[in-house]
Amino acid sequence: MRILGAKNYDEMSRKAANIISAQVTLNPKSVLGLATGSSPIGLYNHLIKLHGQGDISFSECQAVNLDEYLGLDKNSDQSYAYFMYENLFKHVDIKLENTYIPNGMNTDECAESERYNAVIEKLGGVDIQLLGIGNNGHIAFNEPDDVFAKKTHCVELTQNTIEANARFFDNIDDIPKKAYTMGVQSIMSAKKIVLVASGVGKAEILYQTVAGGITPNVPASVLQLHNDVTIIADEDALSVIREKAPHLINN
Ligand code: F6R
Repeated sequence: MRILGAKNYDEMSRKAANIISAQVTLNPKSVLGLATGSSPIGLYNHLIKLHGQGDISFSECQAVNLDEYLGLDKNSDQSYAYFMYENLFKHVDIKLENTYIPNGMNTDECAESERYNAVIEKLGGVDIQLLGIGNNGHIAFNEPDDVFAKKTHCVELTQNTIEANARFFDNIDDIPKKAYTMGVQSIMSAKKIVLVASGVGKAEILYQTVAGGITPNVPASVLQLHNDVTIIADEDALSVIREKAPHLINN
């Protein structure tokens, strides 16, 4: 596990975008595992800029997203499908038919989970997986639990996650209570993982993620078992690691 510091959100975003950009340059047919939320928006902006300058093309890439709310149509402006279109896909040359996300409108949870697992399998797995981290340690929507869920499944979101995501909705009651998410095994099967974290609200859980025991109660802690994880965090998110385990920070 590599832990890289950044002085602020913008530097974190640029460093992460450079890693994704290098991946796409070295392998234009990369399968990119993508995330939503506040953490990756800056890095998507940098990728858009690099694409605009003619430095990278996504025309041969495939993109597979981590999760989607149950009950939201892809055209709903709160859906993750809409988020990806607005924040990345419509600005670059990725082919929309090469982008994948769980179908939030499929209420047959088993069928949708199996369909999405088959999509990932058919793509041959993910080359580089981008992650954010919830302030409860979730990755994708794998919430703290007694066991690690393996593949795509439907989860009940915790109250903590619902409250953390309330900022994206007009009314807290509008937030779906369930979501489809890739499982921990799906995430851990990616060849490379890049996790971005920003803000003091992530500081304690980031410390537990990298320095604590590996436990499904802190789902992100499982990343300690992956052999190619890069965490890029701004100084606020790094603050507890800096205080309690500075030797873990690479630079
Ligand atoms: C989003 C996702 C979530 C977020 C996490 C952090 O696709 O899978 O795990 O990465 O909730 O969200 P932000 O970045 O908004 O703090």
